[in-house]
Amino acid sequence: NVDALTPVMTGQKVIPVIVLDNADDAVPLARALVAGGLPAVEITLRTAAALESIKRVAAEVPDAIVGAGTILNGANFDEAVAAGSKFIVSPGLTPELVSAADGHDVPLLPGSVTSSEIMKALEAGYTHLKFFPAEQAGGAAYLKSCASVFGQVKFCPTGGVSVKNANDYLSLPNVLCVGGSWVAPKDMVAAGDWDGITALAKAAAEI
Ligand code: 3PG
Repeated sequence: NVDALTPVMTGQKVIPVIVLDNADDAVPLARALVAGGLPAVEITLRTAAALESIKRVAAEVPDAIVGAGTILNGANFDEAVAAGSKFIVSPGLTPELVSAADGHDVPLLPGSVTSSEIMKALEAGYTHLKFFPAEQAGGAAYLKSCASVFGQVKFCPTGGVSVKNANDYLSLPNVLCVGGSWVAPKDMVAAGDWDGITALAKAAAEI
């Protein structure tokens, strides 16, 4: 469902990748990111607090576009959608995930790195892909090479992306946005430094 994914990937240059240990932080964090100009946020299913966090942001922060990340299987997909996720992000793509996402209004952004993975994603109907772990898998130079072969594919690189190297990716024709955790650092979340996070979001939104 590319039509539903395009606004998320083109509306802002940076999608915050969020890991939350405490669901009580979800709403103030999402508000801080929205205030800084980053309404689309990806809450990763890496912690026990993730689904509750998605639920609360979906219910209490109408200006946020809450998505779920680190979706590893069909059950993850279903529970993330049930919690209110507006988009779903996975580091990869499996047949199980393809069937879970099939026909859903909630769009899936699956991950691919190698040529065969990209071709399998294309076969399954996915032209918009996550590229993870971006820096370790070959960085912007790798994606630049992909552009000539896979001209129809648009990427969101994540993993090791920061304010320092984001532009290396964003200047490529096949990159729509980047994802990263640097706009929601664990220590600032734990300290409740929401103004500091809004400032990081503003800096990211202006890249
Ligand atoms: C992801 O899931 O996209 C990455 O864990 C984000 O990577 P980062 O922490 O290096 O930004």
